[in-house]
Amino acid sequence: MQGVNSLKQGERQEMVVQEAGPRPEHVAIIMDGNGRWAQARGLPRIMGHRAGMEAVRRVVQSAPGLGIKYLTLFAFSTENWRRPRLEVEGLFALLREYVEKETSDLKAQGVRVRFLGERENLPQAAKKVIERCEAETAGCTRLMLNIALNYGGRAEIVRAARALASRAAAGQLEPDAITAEVLAAELYTRGMPDPDLLIRTSGEMRLSNFLLWQLAYTELYFTDVLWPDFTQDDLAQALAAYRKRERRFGGIQNRG
Ligand code: IPE
Ligand code: IPE
Ligand code: MG
Repeated sequence: MQGVNSLKQGERQEMVVQEAGPRPEHVAIIMDGNGRWAQARGLPRIMGHRAGMEAVRRVVQSAPGLGIKYLTLFAFSTENWRRPRLEVEGLFALLREYVEKETSDLKAQGVRVRFLGERENLPQAAKKVIERCEAETAGCTRLMLNIALNYGGRAEIVRAARALASRAAAGQLEPDAITAEVLAAELYTRGMPDPDLLIRTSGEMRLSNFLLWQLAYTELYFTDVLWPDFTQDDLAQALAAYRKRERRFGGIQNRG
C-alpha cells in the first residue's frame, strides 16, 4: 500500500515538473496509420480515413486548452496521388464532408482554417469548399488550424525559389538580398512560427516530405498509436514529452 502511495506521489511530482515546462505554440502532426487501423478490423481503408476524421475533431477541440496556438495537420501529400483512384476520390469526398459539416462549428470555436499546398490541380469541388471555409473563418484567432492538402515540402521550396527567381529576373530583387527570412516569406506558412513539436503516429519514423524547411529545429515525437486511435490523452502525453526536451538551436545548455 505504502509503495503504491509513494509511487503515486512520485508520479504526481513528475506531472508538476512536466507542467512547469514550456508548451509548444505550434504543433504539426503527420496523421498516419488510417489504412492499417481499418485493415486490422477487416474494413476497407476508407473507413480508417473516416475514423481518422473523428481524431481530427478531438485534437482540434482540445488544442486551445493545451496552449496550442497553431496546429498543422498533414492530410494529403503530393505523393498520395499514387494511391488507387478510388481511395483518392474517397479521401477528397471525406475532406469535403468534413469541411462542409465543420466550418460553422470551427468558426464558433474560434478556429481559423487555412489550407497549405498546391490548389491548381485539386478537384474543383474541393477547391470551392476550402476557399469558403478559409473566408468564413478568416476572422477567428483562438486557434490557427492549417490543413496541408496536396502539400509537399520540396514542391513548396521549389515554388518559393521560382517566385524569388522571377522577381530577380524582373529586376525587383537583388540575389544578395535573398535571406532565409525572404525565402520563408514565400512559403505557405509565411507569417507563422515554425513548429515546436512534430508528432507522427503509427510508428513510422520519417518526414515523408512534410514541412522540410520549417522543421529544421522542431522536436520530433513518434508514437505507435494509429491515427484513428489518437486521443486527447495521447496529445497530452506528446506535450509532456516535449516539456522534458532541451532545445539548444545549436547553442549550448543555458544553465549557470
Ligand atoms: C494516413 O493514413 C492518411 C493519409 C496518408 C491520407 P494512411 O492511409 O497512410 O494509413 P497507412 O499508413 O496505410 O496505415
Ligand atoms: C504521409 O503519410 C502523408 C500524410 C499523412 C497525409 P504516408 O502514409 O503517405 O507516408 P509514407 O508513404 O508512409 O511515407
Ligand atoms: Mg501511411
